Amino acid sequence: MGVRIRVAKPGEEQRLKWIQREAWSPETSPAPPQSSGRSIFDGPVEAGNVLVADENGLVVGFSKLVPLATSYPDLANATAHVQQLHGFSVLPNYRGRGIGRMMLDAVRTESLRRGATRITLRVLATNERAMRLYRAAGYEIEGRLRNEFRIGDRFVDDVLMALELPA
Ligand SMILES: CC(C)(COP(=O)(O)OP(=O)(O)OC[C@H]1O[C@@H](n2cnc3c(N)ncnc32)[C@H](O)[C@@H]1OP(=O)(O)O)[C@@H](O)C(=O)NCCC(=O)NCCS
Repeated sequence: MGVRIRVAKPGEEQRLKWIQREAWSPETSPAPPQSSGRSIFDGPVEAGNVLVADENGLVVGFSKLVPLATSYPDLANATAHVQQLHGFSVLPNYRGRGIGRMMLDAVRTESLRRGATRITLRVLATNERAMRLYRAAGYEIEGRLRNEFRIGDRFVDDVLMALELPA
């Protein structure tokens, strides 16, 4: 059957938290590996903001696609055209098989369905693999917050990337 990308179900949060911990490394995230108390879903599961990669019934990766307006309720109109990509993760043993790209394609389709014309994300400058994948999917670097994070004993830039979608 292979891999399919679908909306996450309510009972899957523990699995997603586990994937988040397994996928963690200091090159890819400034946050500590242990999960915070925060919910993966960042709102009602029914909103469909979490997409999972499902291989024959086993969830092996996920990504979050959250309207920017969720973070800025007072700017709902001004930000209605923007979706934000967060928490993009594939389990280490399943990488390099195109699952990440499949999720990016699903994120694009879902953003278009929501009427968005723009997807934005942030990626650590040390995360070359993810940046290559984003570039291959059409994302461009739009900015860089220099030394935004201190990770271990070094400062790391936060790179801002975006994909423009047809209106
Ligand atoms: C970034 C991440 C989600 C990518 O997931 P992935 O499933 O490995 O992505 P893909 O397989 O689609 O693409 C990755 C690479 O594998 C290659 N690839 C794709 N299909 C392949 C296949 N069938 N066989 C071999 N290689 C393949 C791609 O060309 C790409 O190559 P590149 O590294 O030279 O660009 C994953 O590496 C990950 O979870 N990293 C840790 C978390 C993270 O960094 N998240 C992003 C935070 S901003």
